[in-house]
Amino acid sequence: MCGIVGYIGTKDASTVVLNGLKKLEYRGYDSAGIASVNGVLDIRRAQGKLSNLEVKLLEKPLLGNLAIGHTRWATHGPPVERNAHPHADEANNVAVVQNGIVENFMALRRQLQDEGHEFKSDTDTEVITHLIDKALSTGSDLVTACRWAFQQLEGAHAIAVTSQQEPDKIVVVRLGNAGGVIVGLGNGENFLASDIPAILDHTQTVVFLEDQDMAVITAKGVTYSRLDGSPVEKQSTHINWDPVSAVKGQYTHFMEKEIHDQPQSIQSTIRGRVDFTTGRIAFEELHLTPEQAKEIDRVMIVACGTSFYAGQVGRFMLEKLARVKVSVEYASEFRYRDPLIDDKTVILAISQSGETVDTLAALEEGREQGAQLWSIVNVQGSMVHKISDGTILMQAGPEIGVASTKAFTTTLTDLFLLSMYLGQQRGTLSDEESFELVKHLAHLPELAGEVLKDDYNDYETLVHHYHKKDHFLYLGRGANYPIAMEGALKLKEISYIHAEGYPAGEMKHGPIALIDEDMPVLCIVTKDNVYDKMLSQVEQVRARDGVVIALINEDDTLVAEKSTHVLRIPTTHPLLTPILSVIPLQLLSYHIAVRRGADVDQPRNLAKSVTVE
Ligand code: AGP
Repeated sequence: MCGIVGYIGTKDASTVVLNGLKKLEYRGYDSAGIASVNGVLDIRRAQGKLSNLEVKLLEKPLLGNLAIGHTRWATHGPPVERNAHPHADEANNVAVVQNGIVENFMALRRQLQDEGHEFKSDTDTEVITHLIDKALSTGSDLVTACRWAFQQLEGAHAIAVTSQQEPDKIVVVRLGNAGGVIVGLGNGENFLASDIPAILDHTQTVVFLEDQDMAVITAKGVTYSRLDGSPVEKQSTHINWDPVSAVKGQYTHFMEKEIHDQPQSIQSTIRGRVDFTTGRIAFEELHLTPEQAKEIDRVMIVACGTSFYAGQVGRFMLEKLARVKVSVEYASEFRYRDPLIDDKTVILAISQSGETVDTLAALEEGREQGAQLWSIVNVQGSMVHKISDGTILMQAGPEIGVASTKAFTTTLTDLFLLSMYLGQQRGTLSDEESFELVKHLAHLPELAGEVLKDDYNDYETLVHHYHKKDHFLYLGRGANYPIAMEGALKLKEISYIHAEGYPAGEMKHGPIALIDEDMPVLCIVTKDNVYDKMLSQVEQVRARDGVVIALINEDDTLVAEKSTHVLRIPTTHPLLTPILSVIPLQLLSYHIAVRRGADVDQPRNLAKSVTVE
């Protein structure tokens, strides 16, 4: 949601910023713009995709070695050029880009209008430019003016400011949790961005700004302070993401690439955590003694969307292996129902981006009530990472496609390892059982690779038959019920086909009324403790002339005979099966969306990090 990039150095700044914005396209946006300072402040903005902005830049280039840019996801006012960022004051002296919402913007706007300021846009952001202008007009320097202006704002923001009056600097601030902002450190050049991929081509050394941190970025260096003016020391972090992992390479879409990254990301997740000779699992980052592990009374998983479904699979793993009570909560609902939490509760947040505002709010609720906070996140230095007592960093690498794929299977692998680890610490998992489980784990990357082979499943036939359908039903039971939900979500998100995921046993309580020859029913029927139950669901769908696409183990001829079409996966331990069963569902959605001509990597209305409530 909204992206910010800034550059100051010796290169053509608008090119660096435009390329950085392209790397943030996955966050979702509907207009874009860049401001540069080359003696004077100059701005180009365009509605729609960055290609529109690129055309404007070709027609009328922006010169100079300092620029800030923005991709806007409309909140206040429609996604038209006048509302695109950067916003400038009347004198065209100051340019501002912002992520977040100025909650008191109506009051500020009225006050500024009363004082004679004229507004050119419908946005909340424009009040910031006028506030800075107001402070500058009293003789303040840029940093002092920005500090005063930022102090007037309510809400959570990341803001970057530049001015032709002081053309050697960019001022940036983070206020609250509305998406992160990082400073990238280079040689004779420095950067700022909402997310790491934007600057990964230039530097892997970054500084994460926290709530109330301000940075003044020049080509020669960066100085940090708190919003109130007090100095603050910031440590830089080396990001171990390979810049190549943020490009599509041989693939047409990031989503396709990321689906194919999964054997590698599962392998990287397992590597270093598992002792295959003893079956023991290591999780030093949780700082847990066996006594503390035994004292945990309950794990409450909080997450949204795909991460929520990962949590639902995790419940099966944690309850079975660690014998601990687990609940899985929509983070967006959590704080509104006065949950029962105490110091024996662990709140486990799952978030690919680490910046989802609902998930952060759920963690804060947990903190207030004395719970321990753990998280599984993909983005190092993100807010969820920062506020957790212990974090498991996913080894998925950057995930650019808006529809989450490899972060899902990486999370499931982490949850499996965490369940084994807690089971071992709590004494609920024996050495023999551990040894048996890690044998299955060792084969998992290879089995994921099998499912991805070109000739393993026939997606072409399925796409041919089903890409024009308007509705799909996905059914699963046990640990595959959340996979049915996730499969339906993937189809909805990228192909815009209505799809519902359901626990199969609930079908007879309502959805069965929908079954006819027009709505494909995707049944996940793998060999586990609910296999016979799922088989009977397949029979019930068939008895009503329903169309069954069955996701089965590769050697299952019985279900194959009863189904219209099948998707296959290799056999593994039932608790690991969801990690494989989701892969054909990701691929099916991907191929259907491509056939329907949808924008797979940037589906309409969606954003990669959801930083507003
Ligand atoms: C996944 O395909 C979705 N785009 C979405 O549901 C996502 O999983 C959700 O917004 C949570 O994001 P997070 O993992 O970054 O917190």
